[in-house]
Order: sequence, then structure tokens, then C-alpha cells
Amino acid sequence: MQKGELVYEGKAKKVYLTDREDAYLVEFKDDATAFNGKKHAQIEGKGALNNRISSLFFQYLAAAGVRTHFLERVSEREMLVQRVKILPIEVVTRNLTAGSISKRLGLEEGLKLSEPVVELYLKNDELGDPLINIMHAYVLGFATREQVEKIENMALRINDLLQQLLTPKRIRLVDFKLEFGSLPSGEVVLADEISPDTCRFWDAASSEKLDKDRFRRDLGGLTEAYQEILRRLES
Ligand code: TMP
Ligand code: ASP
Repeated sequence: MQKGELVYEGKAKKVYLTDREDAYLVEFKDDATAFNGKKHAQIEGKGALNNRISSLFFQYLAAAGVRTHFLERVSEREMLVQRVKILPIEVVTRNLTAGSISKRLGLEEGLKLSEPVVELYLKNDELGDPLINIMHAYVLGFATREQVEKIENMALRINDLLQQLLTPKRIRLVDFKLEFGSLPSGEVVLADEISPDTCRFWDAASSEKLDKDRFRRDLGGLTEAYQEILRRLES
């Protein structure tokens, strides 16, 4: 497989063309950013860990019948994915309060929500990814109404499946962010990544943070935390 031209560079990944018309190569970088890129560092090994962890999650979800863009992990920091058009919506699902919902609504972190809550954010760095509602999403044309309904349902199903995987491994899934892409047919599939960069994972017994909050909150030990997630996923 031939690595072609760079088509997109984000904060944590680069996307390349390949000699396959239907596929992109995604390269996971070692860069860690937070607060819309205002805080930035290089953390050696993070890219490879996220590539492995994301690949495991995508394989697990695909086996459970979730349509994803994932094709295969091709090297330490690269995965091959189906070519999709990413919808400009970040879909956050929360099981416990933490992060921005706690800040916005003045809630203590770690409160159990009586049902999972799905939130939509417009993917726009200049605007700081503002919170939007389902009607903004389709009336303003960020996706079709059918696509928005589909991605909300997929987020809830993925939440159930991830919890089924993580609970026996003593990991609490506090919240996570998903992105979706559309195929030429209009069908929506899960895309981007699922990793400790995009999820909050707490150790079930100690509530120790095993995710990017270690970087956001200057707690140290990010690599060790990501390695621990990988170790539990592989056990
Ligand atoms: P939040 O509490 O800051 O809104 O984050 C909710 C979840 O979404 C958390 O698991 C981290 C993830 N997330 C991203 O993956 N990218 C982002 O840009 C933000 C703000 C959050
Ligand atoms: N990834 C986002 C940024 O670089 C925010 C975050 O994950 O906290 O700003």
C-alpha cells in the first residue's frame, strides 16, 4: 500500500491519500493539545498507543455490528480507514458528570446521570466548538435530519457496547466524544478515533483518571495511564 499526499492535518492526526481510491491512511501523532490547542506538548509514544487502542475499539464495535470507517492497523502509528466525509459535529455522550457539563451547570464531578446524555458540538475551532442542539444541526445544514437522528442512536448503542466491554475490566466510561462520516451513498459510519484522548476513563475502584485529563490538569503519568488502558483491553 502506497502512502500518498497529505490531505488533512489535525491536532492529533494526519490523513493521507493511498493508492486505494476508497481508503485513507491515518497517522496518529505524539502531539497532545487541550483548550482548543492553547496548551500543547509532545508525548513520546502517545500516537502509537492511541492507534492500538482505537483499533481495538473499532474492531470490537464492528464485530458487534456497528458500521465504522476502520479497515486495518497497518503500522505502529498508522491505520487504514474507509474514505468518508466527516460531518462537522462532535457527539459527546456522558454517563457521569465531568468536564464542561460540570463547569457549565455548576455540578460536582462524578455524579451518575439517571440516563446517558448525548450532546452535539459544532466542529469549528475558530468558534471554540460551540454546543448546539439537534435542530441547529439539521436546520443549519450541518447534517440531514436522518443523519442526526442516526448518529444520536449510534452514540447511545456505542455507549452500551463500550460499557459492556469496559465494566469487566474495571474501567468506568465517564464520557466520550465521537465523530461520524458519510459514505458516497449517504450512509453514516463511525469515524475518527476512540482513545484516552477522546474519552474519560476512571479506574472503577480508585476513580484514578486514565485519560487525557492527566495532561489537561497537569497530573503527569499520561503514558502510564494510556498503557494501563491498553493492558486492560488486551487482558
Ligand atoms: P468536555 O467535558 O470537555 O465537554 O469533554 C467531553 C468528552 O469529550 C471528554 O471525554 C473529552 C472529549 N473531548 C474531545 O475528544 N475533544 C474535545 O475537543 C473536547 C472538548 C472533548
Ligand atoms: N482536543 C482539544 C484541543 O486540542 C480539546 C481537548 O481535548 O480538551 O484543544
